Amino acid sequence: MALLTAPAVFAALLLFWAVLGSTDADVAPLYKDPAQPVEARVTDLLGRMTLAEKIGQMTQIERLVATPDVLRDNFIGSLLSGGGSVPHKGATPQEWQDMVDGFQKACMSTRLGIPMIYGIDAVHGHNNVYGATIFPHNVGLGATREPYLVRRIGNATALEVRATGIQYAFAPCIAVCRDPRWGRCYESYSEDHGIVQSMTELIPGLQGEVPKGFTSGMPYVAGKNKVAACAKHFVGDGGTVNGINENNTIINQEGLMSIHMPAYLNAMKMGVSTVMISYSSWNGKKMHENGDLINGYLKGKLNFKGFVISDWEGIDRITNPAGSDYSYSVKASINAGLDMIMVPNNFQSFISLLTGHVNSGAINMSRIDDAVTRILRVKFTMGLFENPYSDPSMAGYLGNKEHRDLAREAVRKSLVLLKNDGKASDKPLLPLPKKATKILVAGSHADNLGYQCGGWTIEWQGDTGRTTVGTTILDAVKAAVDPSTSVVFAENPDADFVKNGGFSYAIVVVGEHPYTETKGDNLNLTIPEPGLSTVQAVCSGAPCATVLISGRPVVVQPLLAASDALVAAWLPGSEGQGITDALFGDYGFGGKLPRTWFKSVDQLPMNYGDAHYDPLFPLGYGLTTNATKAY
Ligand code: GLC
Repeated sequence: MALLTAPAVFAALLLFWAVLGSTDADVAPLYKDPAQPVEARVTDLLGRMTLAEKIGQMTQIERLVATPDVLRDNFIGSLLSGGGSVPHKGATPQEWQDMVDGFQKACMSTRLGIPMIYGIDAVHGHNNVYGATIFPHNVGLGATREPYLVRRIGNATALEVRATGIQYAFAPCIAVCRDPRWGRCYESYSEDHGIVQSMTELIPGLQGEVPKGFTSGMPYVAGKNKVAACAKHFVGDGGTVNGINENNTIINQEGLMSIHMPAYLNAMKMGVSTVMISYSSWNGKKMHENGDLINGYLKGKLNFKGFVISDWEGIDRITNPAGSDYSYSVKASINAGLDMIMVPNNFQSFISLLTGHVNSGAINMSRIDDAVTRILRVKFTMGLFENPYSDPSMAGYLGNKEHRDLAREAVRKSLVLLKNDGKASDKPLLPLPKKATKILVAGSHADNLGYQCGGWTIEWQGDTGRTTVGTTILDAVKAAVDPSTSVVFAENPDADFVKNGGFSYAIVVVGEHPYTETKGDNLNLTIPEPGLSTVQAVCSGAPCATVLISGRPVVVQPLLAASDALVAAWLPGSEGQGITDALFGDYGFGGKLPRTWFKSVDQLPMNYGDAHYDPLFPLGYGLTTNATKAY
């Protein structure tokens, strides 16, 4: 037996002391070890949590009601910015980061140090944030028929969201809008579920592409340059009666599953981390209390393992009037399978009622544990425990040139050419010559960035004027034409002005004013005046190209009759040059209608494949033009 030497004895004593001397407090708990499997970390952390800490994770509050004490005392797990909710108008990325990190600091100071996740509606770029790139709304992206373009937009959007320190985007909306009278139809890629399914490519853009061998239904976020996504609004939001927002989708099971559900299957395969529930009802049952579809189908059949979040005051609206029985709303929604509630303001009542329902047995602890497991699974998977704070080096991604060029590409590919005749000759008007003596640019939407971006831009309802950084269509025309060409702008000229103006041609831009959600519900679908009257005045005195800014098909025959050429530009966003790139022939027109263009609103709802289908322009319609560059 080897004699123990002095150094060996000393080393043994040292080791003995080190082991004895260390206490639990010194050994990091398993959940804090990033080397451990996510599921093990979830189980370990869940086992350490009190009911109050669990319920806090299920509570999402608006930034305006969040203070460090509120966050700490209620163990809040998530915050959001509602539409237009910003640190201050024009806040810089650094100021956003400072705000988000301030909230995070409070959450990380709790006993278990669980980071919060901050959500925002980055639905066509990081649209709440001044200076962000504003991409075309989804209806225009549907017209491109380019899923990979949408994935690239997701990549760019994730970087711009992270530039502000935010880790979660309430996108994509995968509604299948079946009636353009719906105020949210522009948030839908198409009436055709196949096109909507293809556009779920936004999810890997936002979150990163799932690895080989990925299990469908699990959440996936590839790290701190990516954000958690949200497939919304589950399910049937785009199928309500007459397109009435938040109303009732009356359709049999086969119709729901074949039209409104397919894109959720794509989203599962792509690892979408969260699913938001629709305000609407299915055959009279509110989606926010539909356990068969949430617990049974989404979590059961589709094996969804991320978390299910309510819409804004979504559980309040289970009852009519909204909030009239909040205790019932809390019980019904949580038991139906909702995991996180976008309260967003009345959190004390939510927490107190939920606590009471658990203590009374009306809600089982197993349901709470399922909800918190899912929330923690997303947070661990996306690395939030390892990187809870902003990365200042990412601030420069906001609105950078690469992203604006991408948006410009998306704009021109989204344009659908509905008419291209020649007034004076049989030569089509488009593409327009860049060199001309004098041209006219007119219309309410020609020099109005807010109008061309539409709803969900800077303000919840969108805005008018120079709301953010971007290029109006007038700006773009001036930049595109030959320096010798004189460009005259008149927002609403009379016919004599045009007739006597000696204009080689005119570009007139009119359309819908911005709207979001219910404010956009519209039964007659005519564009506001001055719109048609401007087109008629301008086109009576010069060859004219009309550019229509709208979130959907509108009553267009009178505009078509007056115009030599007409382009459906949807809601193009901040990069107006995408429109002139096609008007002047640098690129050809190639967009295809993502929606049926009706002859009359009396035909609605009318979708491709209907037995009686008598459109003005069918789904897929779009003229092309020759171009100097490839499409
Ligand atoms: C809104 C919308 C939803 C959005 C949420 C947060 O009411 O229905 O799409 O993500 O509230 O702004």
